[in-house]
Amino acid sequence: MSNIEQTLSIIKPDAVERNLAEKIKEKILENKLIIKNQKKIQITREEAAEFYKVHQTKPFYDKLCNYLSSGPIVVMILEGENAIAVNRKIMGATDPEQADDGTIRKEFGISIDKNSVHGSDSGDNAKKEIQFFFN
Ligand code: CMP
Repeated sequence: MSNIEQTLSIIKPDAVERNLAEKIKEKILENKLIIKNQKKIQITREEAAEFYKVHQTKPFYDKLCNYLSSGPIVVMILEGENAIAVNRKIMGATDPEQADDGTIRKEFGISIDKNSVHGSDSGDNAKKEIQFFFN
């Protein structure tokens, strides 16, 4: 049975700054996901704090919010068969050092903070995150 899903993807400041957005989009498209909607924006510190609210108790929360709001990002709605899992596979592990060869984070990530991309981790979060940027 088919399972067409949507997920939210963010190309983070470190990747936008290094002009990697097109290369990252190519990897997404190669993996049979389509980009339904996209925009390049810069968010405020407050918006980043709201977006990453699930991490508010984590020690890295402050740094994370400062980072996501530090420069332009590209936010995208991706759609396709099992889009949430497929996108997470293409991204690779959160820490680029742990990511598999061929993944976006392995190829382009600089550190666990500057790991080039974000992707929704569940159906519920995908809905919330898409709503957050595209309402
Ligand atoms: P992301 O998928 O955007 O979700 C939360 C982000 O927190 C994560 O990618 C990392 O960039 C960042 N982060 C920083 N430190 C950690 C950590 N120790 N564990 C998990 N995520 C971290």
